[in-house]
This record gives sequence, structure tokens and C-alpha cells, in this order.
Amino acid sequence: MYQDMLQLKETHVKVEGLKKTYRFLHITDAHLVLLDEKVSKERVEYETPRIGLFSRASVRSDEFFDALFSYADSHSDPEDPQALDGVLLTGDILDCPTEENLRRLGKKLAQLKIPYVYVLGNHDWSHFNDYHTPHAMIAHRPVFSKWSNGNTFIHKQKIGEITFVALDDTLDYYEDGVAETLKEVLEGEENVFIMQHIPLYADTLHEDTVAYWKSDLNLGGKGVCVNDNWKKVQDLILEENSPVKGLITGHLHFWHEDLIGGKVPQYITALSAEGNARIFVMEADTV
Ligand SMILES: [Fe+2]
Repeated sequence: MYQDMLQLKETHVKVEGLKKTYRFLHITDAHLVLLDEKVSKERVEYETPRIGLFSRASVRSDEFFDALFSYADSHSDPEDPQALDGVLLTGDILDCPTEENLRRLGKKLAQLKIPYVYVLGNHDWSHFNDYHTPHAMIAHRPVFSKWSNGNTFIHKQKIGEITFVALDDTLDYYEDGVAETLKEVLEGEENVFIMQHIPLYADTLHEDTVAYWKSDLNLGGKGVCVNDNWKKVQDLILEENSPVKGLITGHLHFWHEDLIGGKVPQYITALSAEGNARIFVMEADTV
């Protein structure tokens, strides 16, 4: 149901030397709000209005979430010219980590017939009266390890000729050691796309972000600079022989495309809670 209401934006990305064309479905900020009997009364009161907030034309975020996974299922036959090679999830798929939200997410990921890459969003593990707390870090963040190759902070996954590197920046910064690990992870790679929830700062993104959010939520520059680790990551992305071909992000809830350091494209996809998703078509750079 509701597949016909999805708003899918196709984005063609040229990647030099690819032997075939790849299609990926990018889902971000689905903000599932599924409550269960274990959710505190206080949280139910907070979350209930958010069910209406995350909807479009009376279709709720969980209905769009199911529709997006149905779309992935119905495009997983390799014989289909529109077949997907994978699903890329860049966080805030859950509005908060209720058991019912986690159960639905786990079920959908387990049923996928194609590979997926998952990177955390801040809401996935940390929200409302438990925001960025030591409790949330211990109780909720590790739950996502099983969907992140055992490491929610940084993990790498290859799908065909494309390597996805997922970086957790949901504390509004990269934790110490992430940049150093990234340097090792990038060694010997050719076609890397970095996936993270919060975009990196770009001058051309600043105005739109402030217009929407009243402040710049992006990492670095005139955005959020809790520490300097963003500079180290950005330097690796912009290095002369860097294999990074682009960044795939969410968090801002609106569509945007930018160039980090005027050089490396960053793709921001709008709210999947309202049925939006991006289809990346990665194809050889034929002259
Ligand atoms: Fe977010």
C-alpha cells in the first residue's frame, strides 16, 4: 500500500571505471512512531502528536516506511531493469528506540532480499528526556550493532564495485579515533561513498539550513563545532587521491545537493517520514 504515494527522486552519479550500473534506494528520517505498553506515559504524551507531525496527506510515517520496504522488495529481482542493488539508511529511521519501533525495523531489514547499509541517526538511540545521555549510549546505541556490521561508530560495506563507509556523527561530532580509523579504512579503496546522518557544512547549504531550522545544524564551518574532528574527516575526503566520491546524508529533512570543499558532492535526502526517498543511479563516466 501507498507505494504510489512515494516521492522518489532519481539522481545519476558518474563514477569513473564502473563495469556496470548500480541502483540504490536511500531512506532517511523515516521517524517511525510505534508505541507499546512499555513506553512511559510521559513519552506517550510527547510522541503522540509526532505521529501527526510525521505524515503526509494522512499517511503516517510507519505506512510510508512499509511502502518503501515494499518498493525495495518489488525491485529486488536482478532481471528487473529497475532492480535495486541495495538500500542505504542514514538514520532517524526511528523517532525513538521503543521496542515496537526496533521490532519493526529488525523485521523489515531481515526480510530484505538485497544488501543494506545502516548508519545511526540521533533519534534512533537518543531522544526527548534521554537525549545524548550516558544511559541512552549504553542502553540503546549498542542495539544497532547487529545492523551495522558489529560497529555503529564506523563500518564499511562493499556492494559490487561500490564501498560504503558509515560514520556515526549523531553526537554532533565524530568521536575521537573515527578520523584515524577512516584513514585506514580508505586505504586501497577506489569508489567510496560516506554515509552519515548529519551533513558536513558547506557554504551553499548554510542559508537553506538556517532558513529551515533557524540555525546551522551541519557539522563544522559555521555549523556545529564541538571539536575539530570534522576537519580531519573533511581533509581525508578532500585529499588529492581520496577515493571518496560522495557523501550520503539526511537529518535536515529537505532535499539538497552540495559540494564539500567545492569538490566532493554531498546528497541530502528529504523526510522519508513523508514518503520521500532518493534512487541513486551510479554509472560509468562514459565520454
Ligand atoms: Fe536527525
